[in-house]
Amino acid sequence: MAGWPKWRQLRIGVLMGGLSAEREVSLRSGENVYRALKARGYNAIKLELSSPDELIPKLAEVDLVFICLHGGLGEDGTIQALLDCLGKPYTGSGALASRLALDKLLAKEAFLRAGLPTPPYIHPDSEGWLAAALEGAERLGFPVVVKPRAEGSSLGVRIVHSPAELEAALRETKERFGDLYLEKFIPGKEVTAGILRIGGEDRALPLIELRPREGFYDYKAKYTPGATEFIIPAALEPEVAQKAQELALAAHHALGCFGFSRVDLRVTEAGEAFILEVNTIPGMTATSDLPKAAAAAGIPFEELVEYMLKTAFKEGEDARSFD
Ligand SMILES: Nc1ncnc2c1ncn2[C@@H]1O[C@H](COP(=O)(O)OP(=O)(O)O)[C@@H](O)[C@H]1O
Ligand SMILES: [Mg+2]
Repeated sequence: MAGWPKWRQLRIGVLMGGLSAEREVSLRSGENVYRALKARGYNAIKLELSSPDELIPKLAEVDLVFICLHGGLGEDGTIQALLDCLGKPYTGSGALASRLALDKLLAKEAFLRAGLPTPPYIHPDSEGWLAAALEGAERLGFPVVVKPRAEGSSLGVRIVHSPAELEAALRETKERFGDLYLEKFIPGKEVTAGILRIGGEDRALPLIELRPREGFYDYKAKYTPGATEFIIPAALEPEVAQKAQELALAAHHALGCFGFSRVDLRVTEAGEAFILEVNTIPGMTATSDLPKAAAAAGIPFEELVEYMLKTAFKEGEDARSFD
């Protein structure tokens, strides 16, 4: 599309639902984005996806796609590649960056290549994987984190405290999620950094510290209102916070992400930060982090949605005008 579009004349499809384990979260995100776009006078429609056959006909109805799918198809680069083929602009990261971010092992390799800190890990080979995993856990030490290679929303992430629990945890994770890896447990604080492109410049938003009231930051802690305490900005020394924000921005760029993302980190008591992962399609629910981080930077929800919308045009960006 040459030049700047007349934004309010474009038919914008908010793609939501999908078939992944995060369908319900996606529906809530999509609804909020849809409402924000309508409130700001855009010609938005909801594209709720319930089966793969609906995908192409639904995409044909719109000029631009605001992707609110979490996990699976929407976040693994598949939809992005399809939209590239169809020549339809879409919000956020492209196909390759999306794929890299969702595959946490590829992402970790990319962080390490870029010289960015990520917790030490072991990826047990398919042959003799169980013995390799058990032996690897001893090397990493307990507690150890067992993670599916490609899932989100903490689904399947388990913190294993003793060797006695390990084998069952590994077998269950393997059976339910397939490929997995073990990661060194990083004690300390849980923080997340929203990344947002405004006026052609990528910024790290104020850090959010997440303190689950019980256990760790699992699915329940993420999506049950009140289950997690949010500290904004995170209670960190200013230079530690700044370093974590710089790392988050570097992680976003190391994967080739575009426009926005949310980077999860752990920060030790000594102020050392480790990158856990980059989420290319951050949640936009009432309890989600990116909207909270934006609000802390003085950016209301509807304006955040407009900045995200703008990322659909990757050249000649000018986020000053929404008309
Ligand atoms: N290496 C680790 N050390 C300590 N806690 C971890 C570690 N990895 C994951 N966690 C916990 O599990 C949560 C989910 O892990 P994460 O890698 O962000 O995957 P997801 O895609 O499921 O959000 C984190 O937010 C954190 O609370
Ligand atoms: Mg995470």
